[in-house]
Amino acid sequence: MVPELEKATVRIQRPERVMAIIRAIKEQGMNKLQVISDFDMTLSRFGCNGRRCPTSHNILDNSRVISEDSKKKLKDLLHYYYPIEIDPNRTLEEKRPLMVEWWTRAHELLSQQKIQKGDIAQIVRESDVMLRDGFNELFDQLHKYNVPLFIFSAGVGDILEEIIRQANVFYSNVNVVSNYMDFDDNGILKRFKGPLIHTYNKNNSVLQGTEYFQQLSTRTSIILLGDSMGDLTMADGVPSVENILKIGFLNDKVEERRGKYLDAYDIVLESDETLDVVNGILRYIF
Ligand code: TMP
Ligand code: MG
Repeated sequence: MVPELEKATVRIQRPERVMAIIRAIKEQGMNKLQVISDFDMTLSRFGCNGRRCPTSHNILDNSRVISEDSKKKLKDLLHYYYPIEIDPNRTLEEKRPLMVEWWTRAHELLSQQKIQKGDIAQIVRESDVMLRDGFNELFDQLHKYNVPLFIFSAGVGDILEEIIRQANVFYSNVNVVSNYMDFDDNGILKRFKGPLIHTYNKNNSVLQGTEYFQQLSTRTSIILLGDSMGDLTMADGVPSVENILKIGFLNDKVEERRGKYLDAYDIVLESDETLDVVNGILRYIF
């Protein structure tokens, strides 16, 4: 059915269930389908050439517009909070206030840097960011078949939009909900617009007012793509889900986190920098 599922990176706890969901999505047809995806480390790569790829926040942090002193502070925040973010031994309730702390402190630091709206394109061009291999096929296919792609990101909206724009795949079927920068009349960053989206509040609570899900209530088949345990709730606002296939990229601390990922995601992709499996499933469905 989907030869890509034979790849060595693929782990599935309940293969029959996965096949049944994929078959049901195919039966319902592409008019009933939507794809809901995280951005950082899901559509973008985790590693490239043996090094870590940047998140949308990291792209700003590493850029020439940030002072050396603030660079160090942002790096310290990352080194303190990232291990908490991915710690399989802490509950979401424990993590949530700490993530709010991380995002708030990082956004405060960034807002003091006089970042100019007009510099964003250049900052992205000069960064090491890479989309996962196969992104062209993914975006092109979804566009061709009019399947909405909803990107739900706790990253920086202005940066990730620029990434997909520069990759020439920011098609009309792509919608983004994320943290957007608020610039003053002179195009200088003053603050971030609310509501704040962090790793563990990607659900209904931040989608109210976007009306995005209202429009999509007829799309009852969902393919959900994420890399964090926080991404699992991204489809919670869709009123009538009939079939949902959750695909999780397990990028980091693979051994420690495997059990939890296999319980939560239908398909787990371990250290897989490609979109091959997603594209294979879509090829079968279309
Ligand atoms: P997401 O992939 O769920 O949209 O979350 C964005 C990622 O951004 C999350 O894994 C943590 C990361 N991040 C940074 O790299 N630097 C930061 O300053 C902040 C606040 C988050
Ligand atoms: Mg992510």
